[in-house]
Amino acid sequence: MALSKKDFEGKKLNADNFTLADFQDFESDDLFEVSEYFYKLIEDAFKKKYMIYGQPFMSSPKTEIDVFDWNTNSIRKFLNFCSYNYLGFSYHPEVMKAVQAAVEEYGTGAVSAPLLSGYSGLLRQLEEEIAQLKGKEMAIVFPTGYGTNIGVLSAILRPGDVAVLDIVSHASIYDGVQLGGADIKVFAHNNPNHLEKVLKNVKTKRVMVCIEGVYSMDGDLANLPELIPICKRYGAKILVDEAHATLIFGEKGGGVAEHFGLEDEVDIAIGTFSKAFGAIGGFVAGKKELMTYLRMTARAYVFSCAMAPHTAAGILKVLEIYKKDKSLRDQLWENIHYIHDKLQEAGLDIADTKSQVVPVIAGNDLRLREISKRIQERGLYTGVVTYPAVSKNKTRLRLSISAKHTKEQMDECVRIISEVFESMKD
Ligand SMILES: Cc1ncc(COP(=O)(O)O)c(C=O)c1O
Repeated sequence: MALSKKDFEGKKLNADNFTLADFQDFESDDLFEVSEYFYKLIEDAFKKKYMIYGQPFMSSPKTEIDVFDWNTNSIRKFLNFCSYNYLGFSYHPEVMKAVQAAVEEYGTGAVSAPLLSGYSGLLRQLEEEIAQLKGKEMAIVFPTGYGTNIGVLSAILRPGDVAVLDIVSHASIYDGVQLGGADIKVFAHNNPNHLEKVLKNVKTKRVMVCIEGVYSMDGDLANLPELIPICKRYGAKILVDEAHATLIFGEKGGGVAEHFGLEDEVDIAIGTFSKAFGAIGGFVAGKKELMTYLRMTARAYVFSCAMAPHTAAGILKVLEIYKKDKSLRDQLWENIHYIHDKLQEAGLDIADTKSQVVPVIAGNDLRLREISKRIQERGLYTGVVTYPAVSKNKTRLRLSISAKHTKEQMDECVRIISEVFESMKD
């Protein structure tokens, strides 16, 4: 139910009783009034030391980091299980050298949209590499992964069309569909029977099903072998976002579709450079006709500055290293198996993760807040995922495992989480 001013009259706004989600439909004639109430909530969260979001990182995102801690107003050392640096490429010496050389040659930015003068030769080369990695005819590189979904979905879909999304799809997928004006239908997470039921009731032929390779909050894999044949049977187009799966799954590193041998069945392959590539940017790959159309019509591409040439140079170096040597990925998989086992042995609930994205289910928002405060006090930095990003009683810590984590660091992480969860039983 939407809140309004009168809900707070005579009461102190309390971070224990309200969350961001409560303010989304705040009733007021003044567009900005909600911010005054919301600000009080944030002030209270700071006072109670629950404000663990957006703390400035004072070092590179390695497995140990310096963070400016809001709660102590000081720079503190943390064990880092929060960055998407799955293969440690953001600080790989050869990648950094390639970026530095590109800055020397091309300067610091593209300073133009790609259809004007922002399309560097390095971007073109990167697009060719990505098309190969994804087994597609052509690829387009966008400035961000978020912008890729927004641009692609809003260019293809329009009012009257239907997009069928796994209910836990990333915000950029929901937002892209909404921007295009298509109707959104959801199916239960990874559930082929429910997908079929939804598709059966769709009246139009203009349907797109959107799936993720590795789900970003649960770390489980899309059940592509069962989902894809259903999409095909109903004539729906298939988009698979492999943001967290690229370079981790599939022999070539193409993602979960490649892992299942289903690359050719995917119409639109999406990914980001902000995870295992250790950079920033996004990509879409598919048939050359569709990519050519998108290059001219996806507004998040056409009307936004192109990726900086030095970013493209860094990503190209990542691909060069990765093609020759998969030892970082092998190490990551060793770490994934190790920490899954340790967390389970400690009796923690890691849901159905099959990957380097590892949820540790905490319960409701209030419990998670206290847990996150306690783990930070002990020097562990993890993702803290609350409602509405996940359902109300499934809030969680989210660990991002890296090839660079040592066994000692993973043991320490599990020990801190176990002790904090144990301390919450009091
Ligand atoms: C599935 C998925 N798609 C898209 C994005 C957005 O990518 P980026 O952060 O690179 O903009 C994310 C980011 O977490 C994601 O998990």
